[in-house]
Amino acid sequence: MSIKHRVLTGITTSGSPHLGNYVGAIRPAIVASQSADHESFFFLADYHALIKAQDPERLHQSTKEIAAAWLALGLDTRKVVFYRQSDIPEIPQLTWLLTCMTAKGLMNRAHAYKGAVADNLAAGEDGDYAINMGLFSYPILMAADILMFNAQIIPVGRDQIQHVEMARDIAQRFNHRYGELFQLPVAQVDDNVAILQGLDGRKMSKSYGNTIPLFLAEKQLKKHINKIVTNLLEPGEPKDADTSTVFQIWRAFANQQQTAEMRVRFAEGIGWGEAKKELYELVNEQLREPRERYNELLQDPARIENALAEGAERARVESSELMRQLRDAVGIKALA
Ligand code: TRP
Repeated sequence: MSIKHRVLTGITTSGSPHLGNYVGAIRPAIVASQSADHESFFFLADYHALIKAQDPERLHQSTKEIAAAWLALGLDTRKVVFYRQSDIPEIPQLTWLLTCMTAKGLMNRAHAYKGAVADNLAAGEDGDYAINMGLFSYPILMAADILMFNAQIIPVGRDQIQHVEMARDIAQRFNHRYGELFQLPVAQVDDNVAILQGLDGRKMSKSYGNTIPLFLAEKQLKKHINKIVTNLLEPGEPKDADTSTVFQIWRAFANQQQTAEMRVRFAEGIGWGEAKKELYELVNEQLREPRERYNELLQDPARIENALAEGAERARVESSELMRQLRDAVGIKALA
């Protein structure tokens, strides 16, 4: 029995990593994984991605880019168990056991599914229009991810809290029926982590098409930063730092002193061109080395594959043992 807390989180492989992912998820997860009293399991949720990302080439490319990004940014795979969901055959097996323990009514209440139905109805469509069973059962697969490794702490964004609570419900029901095989997970939402705004000022998200990709070449990075929407104030006119996307991204990359200085310069009327130029320099400086490693990894995907294979091997030591116990518990076992 380990006394370390086990932290587990998944990254859906349905897009290219952007600055918002870095600041809001990758950076804090890597920092937390360096703590001595945590044991981290991070994985690429490619089965989850399949619910929405049904272009094979894109899914494959996204998996490669996201894995490369985490490795390039310094994830220590000796400490962290870093793997791909689809490399763990016990996860879909557990998904089925949990599916049979999950009330359909619980899934009816899931926000993601309910939202899709509401959108359909609002558009005058049938409620079920274009909703696949993957979307409906999504929280069960996520429960399997979590319970497979008996993780206690699940760092997630706000939109995922309900899913972790559902994993808890499902685990309780299973434990009640078959014995105490699962620990009950809790969601951990870090309020200090920045949710970055995108080019248009809304939350940076691939669904809004307003992202700044994480490892753009320098010229492209500069171009994207120049596209950040600002107001029309001229150089010399005081600017409000708190409502500015430029300042918000600055703050996510700068130290305290640099942040305080930039706030003063906004009040003094720094021009948008100048502020963006400095933002570019700050961000570029921090991404330069990881970007080199990232590009090297993309040139040599076998290294990524090896790292993931090693992670899966370590993960499966646990998943195969727990799956054996679970099958036994539900009565699926050898007859003689
Ligand atoms: N659903 C999560 C998201 O979209 C990703 C995910 C899949 C996950 N399985 C998980 C997160 C298990 C935490 C634990 O962000």
